[in-house]
Amino acid sequence: MTILVTGGAGYIGSHFVRHLERRKIEYVIVDNFSTGHKKFVKNKKFFELDLKDPEEIRVNLQDQEITSIVHFAGLSIVSDSQKKEKEYYENNVLASMNLAKFALEKKIRKFIFSSSAAVYGIPEEVPIKENHPTKPINNYGKNKLEIENILKKLSMEYPLDVVCLRYFNAAGADEDGDIGEERNPETHLIPNIIKSVLQSNEFFIHGDTYDTKDGTCIRDYIHVNDLASAHLSSLKFLDSNKGFHIFNLGSEQGFSVMEVIDECQKLMKTAIKFKIGSKRDGDPNILVADNKKSISKLGWKLENNSLKSIISSAINFHKNAL
Ligand SMILES: NC(=O)c1ccc[n+]([C@@H]2O[C@H](COP(=O)([O-])OP(=O)(O)OC[C@H]3O[C@@H](n4cnc5c(N)ncnc54)[C@H](O)[C@@H]3O)[C@@H](O)[C@H]2O)c1
Repeated sequence: MTILVTGGAGYIGSHFVRHLERRKIEYVIVDNFSTGHKKFVKNKKFFELDLKDPEEIRVNLQDQEITSIVHFAGLSIVSDSQKKEKEYYENNVLASMNLAKFALEKKIRKFIFSSSAAVYGIPEEVPIKENHPTKPINNYGKNKLEIENILKKLSMEYPLDVVCLRYFNAAGADEDGDIGEERNPETHLIPNIIKSVLQSNEFFIHGDTYDTKDGTCIRDYIHVNDLASAHLSSLKFLDSNKGFHIFNLGSEQGFSVMEVIDECQKLMKTAIKFKIGSKRDGDPNILVADNKKSISKLGWKLENNSLKSIISSAINFHKNAL
């Protein structure tokens, strides 16, 4: 079994690769390093290629004995998706179509796709179940939903079995501390808080007028290694379940921005200074997953399900990266 991991030089993809290595499962990575890191694929089997180019996919991968695809590659900064609609469409939707076409040509039956809670838009109820209406409010979420729909159609017409995993907020890092969340510019809360302390960076929160207990928005943080393990569980699930499937990946716990800051203060033993910036347009008050379907059907277990363990692992990574 060789798993093709797209975006394996990125944050979540590199943790999935680590998960496979620890289980001695064969893989091959493709990445164009647009946001990924060469150091994350050092000494690993990888092809530098852009999924936007179907010929590059074919030429590089035609001789690989690939049995399944785990598709992490994509651009994922929501605000950029609003400014660069065409770039996001080409890189996310069209590139995913190229990859799906390659899967059909090579008769690769199993396809796991990194979707997002962004497909739900403003939740009508929380925790959010998989059958919640999908009304994305930004191009990023629209791209993810369009890819899901394309994969669904393909799975009905062709021998292709698909799992779409709708992630909530990926966070934390592997215990080895050599892979983690590293973006430029950084857009995620936990790395921004930690870097504000370690690098004395200015740190802003996006508003304190949300309809929540302390006025800051509430999100569901899931440890990146728990995300990684769900992908292998999904591949196993497809051994006995054909067709098209959707699962939420979240912890089913919500923490406000202020609660995350408080936990970081405790763990870093320092007062965290921040400024209050403006609220982001259309940013929901609360996003929390209902994860019961994933736990019951995928046989998936959350191993790092505390905010403390998520944040400590992220601190460990950022200290090592200094
Ligand atoms: N991080 C989160 O909280 C989160 C939440 C929901 C969904 N997701 C999705 O999970 C996936 C992985 O996210 P991440 O946080 O690891 O992002 P990331 O930016 O760290 O990783 C994405 C990887 O894909 C590569 N890539 C992008 N476009 C490519 C292309 N055309 N060809 C080849 N490689 C390409 C990048 O170089 C990078 O290595 C993305 O699809 C993202 O939308 C992430």
